[in-house]
Amino acid sequence: MTAKILDGQALAKEIRAEVASDVAEIVQKHGVTPGLAAVLVGDDPASAIYVRNKRRACDEVGMFSETFEMPADSTHDQVLACVQKLNADSRFHGILVQLPLPSQINEHSIIESIDPNKDVDGIHPFNVGKLVQGRPDFVSGTPAGIQQILVRNGHDPAGANVVVCGRSDIVGKPMALLLMQRGKGANATVTVCHTGTKNMAEITRQADILVVAIGRPNAITADMVKEGAVVIDVGINRVDDASRKRGYRLVGDVDFEAVSEKASAITPVPGGVGPMTIAMLLVNTVTAARISIHGRES
Ligand code: GUN
Repeated sequence: MTAKILDGQALAKEIRAEVASDVAEIVQKHGVTPGLAAVLVGDDPASAIYVRNKRRACDEVGMFSETFEMPADSTHDQVLACVQKLNADSRFHGILVQLPLPSQINEHSIIESIDPNKDVDGIHPFNVGKLVQGRPDFVSGTPAGIQQILVRNGHDPAGANVVVCGRSDIVGKPMALLLMQRGKGANATVTVCHTGTKNMAEITRQADILVVAIGRPNAITADMVKEGAVVIDVGINRVDDASRKRGYRLVGDVDFEAVSEKASAITPVPGGVGPMTIAMLLVNTVTAARISIHGRES
């Protein structure tokens, strides 16, 4: 079988167009322009690129956005003060603190300081708790984007065996929680594999839908995939490539060439999950703007 390529770039464009129309409606009806603040601490080049792409996407859909750059040696209290200022700033409906933060900063404490109504990354314990209960307002962009890739390509997770490889707070855990919920676009039987899993290949071979967020090139080989499975590759890894001008290329966690001969559908890297993460951040910022106008539903 040769897999269908699940084009995240095209789908993200479709979702950005939907967001642009939502933004125009909010501006017209309420005189409010949805705004996103991004906090970038330090000078990690990958984080700087992510944040730049997020800002560009905001501009494209008519949102207001600003990046708050802080030096790598910022203290915990300085970052905390920045978040608190943004909590009180009504121009910003969403706050995104780019992770990871430098080691002198207590990441959990910063995340907990974000106003839950502005937590467009869905990582504040209040929003994670609502996801656990199956009534989320904000779901972290990557898992939310993966759910859209599945549903909008006709791969309804209902009743499927989903295997998630990885248990990070921003991808693996919310992915599992999202797809195990009762209701539309979910209702799957979910298994989570992680570094403590003994027989990972045996488990991944049971997957109708395999979501891989391990952070290592070629972590998933063809023998670990069931014939006809849908494979979602969250990995973004740099591997040396002298034939490229910049000296490296980006690859996922899945051995794309071999696995695409076995899967029925697969996301490419780049151009798969990555653009969807940003699109869903925009969706969440619209939700945050609506919450600021109407309040939460329950
Ligand atoms: N670092 C890598 N991915 C993400 C993300 O989706 N949100 C934030 N805040 N930081 C990240």
